[in-house]
Amino acid sequence: MTTTRRLTIAIDGYSSSGKSSMAKQLARTLGYRYVDSGAMYRAVTLAAMRHGAINPDGSVDTDILYPLLPDLHIDFATEHGRQVTLLNGENVESRIRSMEVSAHVSAVAALGAVRQAMVAQQKVYGAEGGIVMDGRDIGTAVFPNADIKVFVNASAETRARRRYLELQAKGDTTTTYAEVLDNVVTRDHIDETRSESPLRRADDAIDLDNSEMTIDEQNQWLMELYDRTISRLQQ
Ligand code: DC
Repeated sequence: MTTTRRLTIAIDGYSSSGKSSMAKQLARTLGYRYVDSGAMYRAVTLAAMRHGAINPDGSVDTDILYPLLPDLHIDFATEHGRQVTLLNGENVESRIRSMEVSAHVSAVAALGAVRQAMVAQQKVYGAEGGIVMDGRDIGTAVFPNADIKVFVNASAETRARRRYLELQAKGDTTTTYAEVLDNVVTRDHIDETRSESPLRRADDAIDLDNSEMTIDEQNQWLMELYDRTISRLQQ
């Protein structure tokens, strides 16, 4: 009897491209661990804000932030069937999705010491396979030998519209679509141009532009890719 190998699956892409929902759904279907690496950078950003490490001009005071890093423990738990992010044991899931955290996260995620700490933790999560991780550098820096690498994209307007609707559904009535679009475009730029692990498609990644796809269609696309990969690996 052959046991099915438990794969390492890297889903990278632009902010609000829908990569998290497809990654989450695949992990659920396969019984794999799901890690939202963006949530980890968001949790560090929240800690930085709470400790006054974000300067008024938006830059990061690394003299405050760096000494905090060894004591920041980020983990995930399931609550009411939903995965939530824990920062030193506190459920910070809704706080890390706020516009304020979104506005500062790219600057925090651009710092080498922050990335090193997060990437080391992410490699431990994936040490035994059976993982779907989404982010910006999973196929390039975290799991360069992943069994499946997908690079997801959609137009900035499509992504901003999705994010805006998400915020509205969560009861945010103050943030405008223009602000969300501006945040998406600014984050794309910072993520693509930073010197530490910039957002870059891995050479061997498979592209998915989901601008015109429904959530079901993109889940199905990913499941078919998984099925093809498993058949190939087991031949
Ligand atoms: O996926 P997200 O929008 O929640 O990610 C939040 C920020 O974290 C995003 O601006 C870029 C950064 N990030 C990163 O630099 N590397 C990752 N692997 C994941 C996210």
